[in-house]
Amino acid sequence: GHVVVIYGGHSAEREVSLNSGAAVLAACQRQGLEVTGYDLAEGGVAGLQALNPDLVFIALHGRGGEDGCLQGALELAGIPYTGSGVLASALGMDKLRTKALWQTLGLPTPESVLLSPEADWNEVADRLGLPLVVKPVHEGSTIGISIVNSRDELETAYREAATFDTRVMAERFVSGDEFTLSVLGDSALPAIRVEVPSGFYDYEAKYLSNETLYHLPCGLDAEQETALGELCLAAFEAVGCQGWGRVDVMRDAEGRFWLLEVNTVPGMTDHSLVPQAAAHAGIDFDELVLRILDTARE
Ligand code: DAL
Ligand code: MG
Repeated sequence: GHVVVIYGGHSAEREVSLNSGAAVLAACQRQGLEVTGYDLAEGGVAGLQALNPDLVFIALHGRGGEDGCLQGALELAGIPYTGSGVLASALGMDKLRTKALWQTLGLPTPESVLLSPEADWNEVADRLGLPLVVKPVHEGSTIGISIVNSRDELETAYREAATFDTRVMAERFVSGDEFTLSVLGDSALPAIRVEVPSGFYDYEAKYLSNETLYHLPCGLDAEQETALGELCLAAFEAVGCQGWGRVDVMRDAEGRFWLLEVNTVPGMTDHSLVPQAAAHAGIDFDELVLRILDTARE
C-alpha cells in the first residue's frame, strides 16, 4: 500500500521533525515501499487525504502532530497510523497530567507544580527546593526549559517558558544520571545513558553538538537495567501508549529512578536516541522503520 510519511507542521519542533521525516522517508525508499513525504504545514489534513494513504508514518513532533489532533483526524478518515492513539498522544503531550497519572499509580516522578504569573515564587522554591526546573507543559526537545538556581531567576524562567506555551510548570530537579528507554512494540530496547559535558541535555546538546555522549550499554548492572525497563514499560502502558515511543528518566545519587516524561513520536534524526538503541539491539534504521510501520493501527 501507499505509505505517507508526515512531518514538519507548525510546532516549535518543526526543524527536528523535518530531519526525522527525511530519514524515515529515505528508509522507506531504500526498502522499495511506495512512499510519499508530506509536510503537514503545506496542505493540512485535506492535502493528506488527497494523497490517498493506506498507512501513515507520523514523524511530526510536538503540537499538531504528537498531541492527538492528527491521530483523531486519521481515525475519522479511517487511515491507519503509527504510534499511540488519540488519548495517549494527548496525555503524553501534557507533562503535568502524565505525571499526575503516574503519581496516582505509585510510579516515581519528581514533584511539580503548575505556575502562573501570580505564583508566590518563594513558596514554589520552598516546596520544590533549588535548583528546580521550569518547563512548558506541552513542549519537546527541551525548548523553553530552564534550570533555576536561585529564587530571583524563577520569574524570568517562567516568562521564557510562557513564550512557548499557555501552561508552565516547575519540577523538582533530580541531580544524577539521565537515561532514556526506547519502546518498540511491547518491548524495551537497551537503555541509553546520556552524558552532556555542558551538564544540560538541551536543544543544542540534542541535535547540534557532537560532544554529547551516548552510553550504550548504559553502565547499569543487569538487575538495574531490568528494573529500569520494567518501570518505563509500566509508565508507557499507564499512559496507554502503543507501537513505539521513548521514556526519559533520571537516576539520583541513591540509585532511584524518576520518570520525567514519555515521548510518543520520538526523534528519528541522526542524533536521536531510538535509532541508536535499536542499532544496539541489532535493528538497523531501515528495519526499525519497517518494524514501526508494522505496529500501525487504525
Ligand atoms: N521531542 C523529541 C523529538 C524527542 O523526544 O526525541
Ligand atoms: Mg519530550
